[in-house]
Amino acid sequence: MRATSLLVGYGESVDSAVCPPVTIEVPAGRALAIVGANGTGKSTLLRAFVGLLPALSGRVEVLGREVDEREASFRAAVSTVMDEDTSFPSLTVREHLLLLARGHGVSRASALVTELIAEFGLTDRAAAMPTALSSGQRRRMLLASAFVRPRRVLVLDEPEQRLDAGMRDRLAQRLIAERADGVTVIMATHDPALVSTVATEALLISEKAARRTSPKDAVAAIEAL
Ligand SMILES: Nc1ncnc2c1ncn2[C@@H]1O[C@H](COP(=O)(O)OP(=O)(O)O)[C@@H](O)[C@H]1O
Ligand SMILES: [Mg+2]
Repeated sequence: MRATSLLVGYGESVDSAVCPPVTIEVPAGRALAIVGANGTGKSTLLRAFVGLLPALSGRVEVLGREVDEREASFRAAVSTVMDEDTSFPSLTVREHLLLLARGHGVSRASALVTELIAEFGLTDRAAAMPTALSSGQRRRMLLASAFVRPRRVLVLDEPEQRLDAGMRDRLAQRLIAERADGVTVIMATHDPALVSTVATEALLISEKAARRTSPKDAVAAIEAL
C-alpha cells in the first residue's frame, strides 16, 4: 500500500481535508499502526485506502495499482473491518461466515468457519442471529469475517474495540501470523499493546502533521494523548 501526498475529507476541495497530507508506503508482510487523537482523520484515511472515499488530492495505490473499489481483483485482495455493522436478518453467525467464505471461493469453507468461530469465542453463539449478539460478540463476528476470506491487504479500524484483554492478545497473535503470511496490515488503533507487538511502523497524525514514526514512539504518543 502506498499513499502519496494524500489528502482526504468529505467536501469537494482540498480545503475540506480532515488531516495533513499523508505519504507512506507499507510493503507486504509489514504492519502500519495509525495513531492519533479522536477526530484526527484515522477512519477517513482508512476509507480512502480501501476506495470507499475518493482522495481530495494525491494518490493511493494498493498492490501496485490505484485503488478502485469497483474492481473485482481489488475487492478479492483487500479485507476490511471498519465501523459498519450490517447483517442479513435470516442468517446465523455461522451462515454469515460461510456465505462470505463461499462467495470468495474458499475451499474447506466449513472447517475454516468452525476454526474462526472458535478463535473468536463464538462457538456458543454460532447458531444465533447477529442481531441477538452482544455488541462485543458482534464485533468478534465482524473480525472473524475478515479472516474467512482471501486477503493480501488487511485494513482494520480500531480492531481492539470491545475486546477483552484475552481476545486482544489473541487478535495480536493472529495479526502477527498474517504478517508472516505476507499480508499487509493497516490498522488505526489506540491500543499500545497492539502497536508494540504487531506494528512494524506507525503513522502519527495530529492537526499539524502526519508523520511516520517507530512503533515505540507511537506507543509513547498514545500514552500522552
Ligand atoms: N461522513 C462524514 N462526513 C463529514 N465529516 C465527517 C464524516 N466522518 C467523519 N467526519 C469528520 O472528519 C474528521 C475526522 O474523523 P475520523 O476520520 O472519524 O477521525 P478518527 O477516526 O481519527 O477519530 C472529524 O472532524 C469528523 O467529524
Ligand atoms: Mg475512527
